[in-house]
Amino acid sequence: MNEHINFDCFLGKRIHLGVCGSIAAYKSLDLLRMYRKAGIEVSVTLTDGAQEFIKGLSFEALGAFKVWQKMFPTVDDTFGHLEPGQAADAMVICPATASILARMTHGLADDMLSCQALAFNGPKLVAPAMNPNMWNAPATKHNCAVLAERGVEFIGPDCGDVACGDHGKGRLASLESIYVHGLRAVSPDDMCGKHVLITLGPTREKWDAVRFWSNPSSGLMGASIAMAAWLRGAKVTVISGPVNWWFPEDMNVIKVDTAREMFDAATALWPECTTGCLTAAVADFKPIPHGEGKFKKSGRENLSVEFDTNPDILKTIGSMKRDDQELVGFAAETSNIRESAKSKLEKKNLDLIIANPINLPGAGFESSTNSVYVLDRAGRNEEWPNLPKTEIAWRIWDLLLQN
Ligand code: CTP
Repeated sequence: MNEHINFDCFLGKRIHLGVCGSIAAYKSLDLLRMYRKAGIEVSVTLTDGAQEFIKGLSFEALGAFKVWQKMFPTVDDTFGHLEPGQAADAMVICPATASILARMTHGLADDMLSCQALAFNGPKLVAPAMNPNMWNAPATKHNCAVLAERGVEFIGPDCGDVACGDHGKGRLASLESIYVHGLRAVSPDDMCGKHVLITLGPTREKWDAVRFWSNPSSGLMGASIAMAAWLRGAKVTVISGPVNWWFPEDMNVIKVDTAREMFDAATALWPECTTGCLTAAVADFKPIPHGEGKFKKSGRENLSVEFDTNPDILKTIGSMKRDDQELVGFAAETSNIRESAKSKLEKKNLDLIIANPINLPGAGFESSTNSVYVLDRAGRNEEWPNLPKTEIAWRIWDLLLQN
């Protein structure tokens, strides 16, 4: 489930990918594909070690516009060691071996990648992969501390089984993680300083030991909004109903089941947030529980279930909103979209509302795209064409930041 990280609004950006000699080198091919899909240009440098595992041709075939494999290339490329520093927006070294970390620490410039890293002043990210003993060696620890101090960003390594059969810290971080950290390095940081609270997914209201009342919300819209805010530098707290989206480690994710649990978590956190975006499809009603254990049908043909109301989280948060906070809400509608959006914007004290028809093809609960009508407090309104939810997420923050 990674649709929420499929952003493709990075045209004009370039990442320089450094690949070192590790069994994990083949994974950098997938990373290249992911960045290309996001619209990012990718250039590549393979160290001699990397070329023992993987060929430059594979990177060229997958869309790298330039691949360096030697320290002293051709006459028309005399300054290849400086070029990424002049033209790329970020450098991602994946996998990074103990050797490249040591060479970067000491400013050695004895191969193409270490020269390019030394001459690169932009954001540098490294995703180490090595045997746990090499990772835990005092020399590597010292080198990593020096590099981190200089602003090099480390992604992983993770704990787990490594190629030689050992177990410990040294596995390459997940590609999702390396990918989104690279995206963040080339994203605007216009949400830096904001603390964003997001609710997403359905809620589940238990009736007996095996049955519950819920809805088919996938949570994709909220997960995309959370990722867009994180990429743009915000601190993000997600309150998630029972769906399983992958999020970066430094995102605070609180798992809940019921509307009441979501309400308690959201109202407790809201005072410390600057911005709220409540996308969850909260069950407005909950069945009055049948009692302990599983309800037995025992010859019945009809069944009536009584319902109680759940609190309106967005309305409550809206009533608590201070002047220095901004609140975005959603409206799921089957008719009268504009009127309902206006009425919910006012009733719930929102700054922006995103209304979507849940009964059209390509929109609503389980779709990866949506067609929305947006309306802000000042009366500005727009109808957006059918778009991927990731693009809607990005545009929502664009719009809010313009206010
Ligand atoms: N919402 C909420 N708590 C609820 C119900 C809704 O926080 N108990 C939030 C949703 O996350 C969404 C907005 O309120 O941001 C609107 O939800 P929607 O289901 O469209 O509207 P309701 O207010 O529930 O009204 P109705 O179902 O009558 O249209």
